[in-house]
Amino acid sequence: MGLRLIFLGPPGVGKGTQAKRLAAAQAIPHISTGDILRAEVNAATPLGTQAQTYMDQGELVPDDLVVAIVARRLDRDDSRNGYLLDGFPRTAAQARALEQELAKTNGPIDRVLYFHAPDDVLVRRLSGRRGCPDCGADYHLTALPPKVQGVCDRCGGSLTQREDDRPEPIRKRLEVYRARTRKLIDHYRSAGSLVEIDSTGTVDEIAAAVARSLET
Ligand code: AP5
Repeated sequence: MGLRLIFLGPPGVGKGTQAKRLAAAQAIPHISTGDILRAEVNAATPLGTQAQTYMDQGELVPDDLVVAIVARRLDRDDSRNGYLLDGFPRTAAQARALEQELAKTNGPIDRVLYFHAPDDVLVRRLSGRRGCPDCGADYHLTALPPKVQGVCDRCGGSLTQREDDRPEPIRKRLEVYRARTRKLIDHYRSAGSLVEIDSTGTVDEIAAAVARSLET
């Protein structure tokens, strides 16, 4: 049986970067509610249209919408052998809904990795992030720059900035994280499944800490 993992932490801490690597190495699905919602927005589905206003402003999408997305995704065959939840749960109601869902189908979560870094590091990572809308490759202006400014190394597409990586939505996302998501840390710590990952270092240093945290 593969691992069942949750990646928890503030916006910009590097959860998605580490999640992609680990999920590929462990051959488990990477279930990112942010990525699923952005795909819905790009495809202009009714769900995407509903979610977009919240996302662009840095607010959370309502629990019932997000819980339904995750329940459907966990129901797929490839989630039976482990998965990595990235950016879910984010509220106490989402954590309760997940526990109910897992009691029905999958077993309990093996580990919750809590990534943390000071706010100035988060703001630097968020404001410097760029992505390729054509192939999905991720960049950062200083930490992971493309060879040619503004151009995707992989497919030659023009790099863009996420709407919610502008200063005002970043401020809002950090505020929402502190108000709604941070309390889940105590919930999972008292359940004994939380491992803290200092995420101030390089991508490779953090990946090594993640690997060590799964050895025990
Ligand atoms: P989501 O997409 O989940 O955004 P987030 O949690 O704010 O996280 P980010 O993707 O911004 O950051 P990350 O920690 O993954 O960092 P990354 O690896 O990309 O959610 C977006 C929105 O969707 C939410 O605001 C909400 O509206 C909605 N939503 C999603 N889930 C929801 C839920 N459960 N409930 C309700 N609403 C929900 O790295 C960031 C940058 O830093 C990159 O450029 C990267 O290259 C760089 N970087 C990464 N690691 C390092 C490093 N070690 N050193 C230097 N640079 C680094």
